[in-house]
Amino acid sequence: MIYFDNSATTKPYKEVLDSFVKVSSDYFGNPSSLHSMGGQAEKLLSQAREQVASLLKVKANEIYFTSGGTESNNIAIKGAAFLNQHKGRHLITSSIEHASVREAMEYLEQEGYEITILPVDKNGIVSALDVEKSIRKDTILISIMQVNNEIGTVQPIEEIGKILKNFPSILFHVDAVQAVGKIPVSLYENRVDLCSISAHKFHGLKGTGALFIRDGLRLTPLFSGGNQERKMRSGTENVAGAVAMAKALRMTMEKSGVGIAEMKIIQNLLRRGLTDMEGIQIHTPERYTAPHILNFSLIGIKSEVFIHALEQKGIFVSTTSACSSKKKSPSKTLLSMGVPENLADSAIRISLSFDNTEEEAKAVLIAIEKIANQLRKVMK
Ligand SMILES: Cc1ncc(COP(=O)(O)O)c(C=O)c1O
Repeated sequence: MIYFDNSATTKPYKEVLDSFVKVSSDYFGNPSSLHSMGGQAEKLLSQAREQVASLLKVKANEIYFTSGGTESNNIAIKGAAFLNQHKGRHLITSSIEHASVREAMEYLEQEGYEITILPVDKNGIVSALDVEKSIRKDTILISIMQVNNEIGTVQPIEEIGKILKNFPSILFHVDAVQAVGKIPVSLYENRVDLCSISAHKFHGLKGTGALFIRDGLRLTPLFSGGNQERKMRSGTENVAGAVAMAKALRMTMEKSGVGIAEMKIIQNLLRRGLTDMEGIQIHTPERYTAPHILNFSLIGIKSEVFIHALEQKGIFVSTTSACSSKKKSPSKTLLSMGVPENLADSAIRISLSFDNTEEEAKAVLIAIEKIANQLRKVMK
C-alpha cells in the first residue's frame, strides 16, 4: 500500500494513539469536576495547551482547543464578524479558501455582511497588493489561508501581515491547517490575530484542533453551554484528544528538519517524472509551494477513473480536497487559476507525509505511466 493522500488526512503516530488510550482510560475525569480526578484531567489539559503554545511560539492562554480546522475557521470568522458588526460589516477573503472559510463567508453575506473575494493569479496565489487595495473603512476581518489544500501554493501571509500593521483594527485570520509542520507558521511576526490548525493533518486524531486567538482579543462564541475554554468554546473538553494533538505536533516539529528536506526531494522526483511523461499538465507551480502537495492533470482522463485504477495497484491519491472529492464538481482552486474545466476534471492530487519514501514515488510514477497508457489505448 502506498498512501499519497496525506492532505486529506494522515495516519496517527503510534505514540499519539498510545497517549490517547492512556489518558482516556487512566485520566477520564471531567476537567471541570472539583475532585482530584477532575484536577488531574485539568492539569493534563493545561500541559497540552502549554506544549501546543510553545511549539507555535505563542502563549498558552492564546490556544483554544476545538474539534478541528472547520470549527476553528467558523469560530474565528463568525465570532469576529458578530463581535465587530458595530465597527463594520466588510470582510476580505480569497477565491481558493477551504469550504469551511468560503461557506462561513457565504453565511455572513446572507446575514447582511459584504464579502470581497480576491482572485488568484495563474499560479494560484493571492496578491498582497489586492488585499491592500480592497481594504475599506468598514473592513473588520481578512481571512487568507497559508497553504492551499488542493495545489499546495503558499500565500503571502508575511506581506499581508506587514500591510496590516498599518490597520490595527482589522483582524487577520490565517487557516494554517495545511501549513503546520510543512512551512514555518510565524504568528506574532506576521501580525496574525487568529489561526486555525487541525491535528489529523499532522498525525494526530480526527476531531481535534485548535484556534489561536491573540492575547486580549475576544470573539462572540458560537456555542452556548458550560463556558469551557474560557467561554470561547463550550463543551466538555476532549482531554485525551488535546494531549494526543500536543504529542503529534511535537513529533511533527521534531521530524520536520529532515522530513521537509526529504519531502522536497520526493516532490521534485515526482515533478521531474511527470514532466517527462506525455499528456500531463502540472498545476502546482515550482515556486511558492509547500513541500507536500503536487497537483496535475492527465489530459483526457477523468480523475475518478484514474484514482480507481491507481487504487487497484494499492496506491491512494485524491482528486481535489477530501471534503469535496466525492462531489463531481471540478476544483474551485483550479478554476480560479484559469485552468479550463475539462482539465480541472482530470486533476489528481498527490500529498506526502514524512513517512513516504523515494522508492514509493518511483513506484507511483511507473504505475501512473502504465495506467495512463492503458486507459488511453482503451479510449482510442
Ligand atoms: C486548508 C484546510 N482548512 C480546513 C480544513 C478542515 O479541517 P478539519 O478536517 O479538521 O475540519 C482542511 C481539511 O481538509 C483544510 O485542508
